[in-house]
Amino acid sequence: MNRPQLYAKFSDLQKTDNSFVLDNYLETGGWGDGESICDIGCGDGTFSVEGLAPRLPDNFERLIACDVSEKMLDFARDKYPLPKFEFVEFDVSADDVPDEFRNAFHHVFSFYTMHWVRRQRKAFKNVFKMLKPGGDILFTFLAKSSLYDIYQNMSKRKKWSQYSVKEYISPYHGLKQPEKHLQKLLNNVGFDVKVCKLVTRSFHFPTLDVFRNTITAVNPIVQKLHPDDVEEYQEDFMAELSSIKSVVVENVNNNSDKSIREIHKIFVVIAKKPE
Ligand SMILES: C[S@@+](CC[C@H](N)C(=O)[O-])C[C@H]1O[C@@H](n2cnc3c(N)ncnc32)[C@H](O)[C@@H]1O
Repeated sequence: MNRPQLYAKFSDLQKTDNSFVLDNYLETGGWGDGESICDIGCGDGTFSVEGLAPRLPDNFERLIACDVSEKMLDFARDKYPLPKFEFVEFDVSADDVPDEFRNAFHHVFSFYTMHWVRRQRKAFKNVFKMLKPGGDILFTFLAKSSLYDIYQNMSKRKKWSQYSVKEYISPYHGLKQPEKHLQKLLNNVGFDVKVCKLVTRSFHFPTLDVFRNTITAVNPIVQKLHPDDVEEYQEDFMAELSSIKSVVVENVNNNSDKSIREIHKIFVVIAKKPE
């Protein structure tokens, strides 16, 4: 994901789900003075600074926001040159964590990122290492989405079949009981799991254009296409919408404008590293 400007404008779906999760699951009653916080997969930085931080006790010591994309980080650094925030390059599924991240954080958050990560076990092991004993995580990310079904249908079309989509689909999308699978993984890594559940969410895109831009901001295939092919890809993508039951295209106010309702399932994960 390398389109910070577009993502900053067209990520209401992600921000709405993230806010829902924090408003319903974040508990900061037991927090002390000077807590150290990490947000993994901060993207353009907007949600770390404007969504997460305002919901935290304001006496936290620092918030390290990490991402694997330098383009995202550059955008975030430019937009938010703030004293308690630092934007750092870090791949959560790297072979190991840097020394300065080891036992470094009281709280690790992650929003709309872990579905991009193939090496789930390695990533959660790294997060475990990053926490201080007694530290906790609150993660939310996509488990299942109708948009993944569209990606899969698109790859069956001859013209787009050369673009593999497998690595961009949540590793939990095809599983019957994703929450059981993830709970087991977290327990194996050593976490005490408090919440590991799926929540069904729906999102209303007010226009087709907002929908198209939201997808383009996160769709890695679009970035691989020859510029001359982008429009045709987007048209085919829109044409696939009608084949997906959980995506509803509606007329707006009886005129020719259309809006889109879409349903997806997110994980809510709260877990603790034992003292
Ligand atoms: C959809 S954005 C989420 C941004 C922000 N957290 C939000 O909710 O608006 C996902 C971000 O995860 C980052 N990402 C993907 N794989 C990652 C990895 N292995 N380690 C760290 N960040 C990763 C991408 O570069 C991208 O910026």
